Amino acid sequence: MRRKIIAGNWKMNMTPSEAVALCETLKPLVVSDDVDVVFCVPAIDIIPVVEAVKGTNIAVGAENLYFKDKGAFTGEISAAMLTDAGVKYVIIGHSERREYFAETDETVNAKVKQALANGLTPIICCGETLTQREQGITIDFIRQQIKIAFLGVSAEEAAGCVIAYEPIWAIGTGKVATTEQAEEVCCAIRACICELYGQETAEKIRIQYGGSMNASNAAELLAQPDIDGGLVGGASLKPDFGKIVNYK
Ligand code: PGA
Repeated sequence: MRRKIIAGNWKMNMTPSEAVALCETLKPLVVSDDVDVVFCVPAIDIIPVVEAVKGTNIAVGAENLYFKDKGAFTGEISAAMLTDAGVKYVIIGHSERREYFAETDETVNAKVKQALANGLTPIICCGETLTQREQGITIDFIRQQIKIAFLGVSAEEAAGCVIAYEPIWAIGTGKVATTEQAEEVCCAIRACICELYGQETAEKIRIQYGGSMNASNAAELLAQPDIDGGLVGGASLKPDFGKIVNYK
């Protein structure tokens, strides 16, 4: 049985002091013995959030990293900086980064390898646009994203990764994919991992759904055989996040 993983993606929200206050609100609400809970927070909030959640079941994630070790890359954050600060997870290739910050499947691949080489668990995002869905090329498109993201990644490393399937048309729009749509794509992603690495790896890797997940739709989505968790944006900034973690 794969352990469920519910990760909040705070995006560009919460100043450091607001972040600490939100942690205090959420801490008692996200207690769980059988779900991994992650807060992926803006870089400047990492240090105060790591401090605020010490001694709890909450792990801290970053929203991005750079694929070089160090050097003249003004404004970027390295994997070593993240691990030294206490970060365990990192979101890679979110559709907002692909759209607004020119991330490509190739930079996603470089970042995945950099995260793994430094002991960080990548949460690798994929997902189609509405046009792609309407043209019936969702699965082909996502298979391409996955195959490039995992280039040069070993089976053992892949097994420990997290993939987040986030249809772009469902992010922040309130338009959640139907349970069938979400399960169909998560199942196809697992089949793609099976082709690349074999059955054992495919059974271990965890696949999240993301896109307008909230307290009322989480239970149904999380009951699907190939949906192992959620990547939650808007609802991760509210007490509702506790209800998603405790969806059962
Ligand atoms: P949303 O965002 O839950 O606000 O739709 C999800 C995400 O972008 O990770």
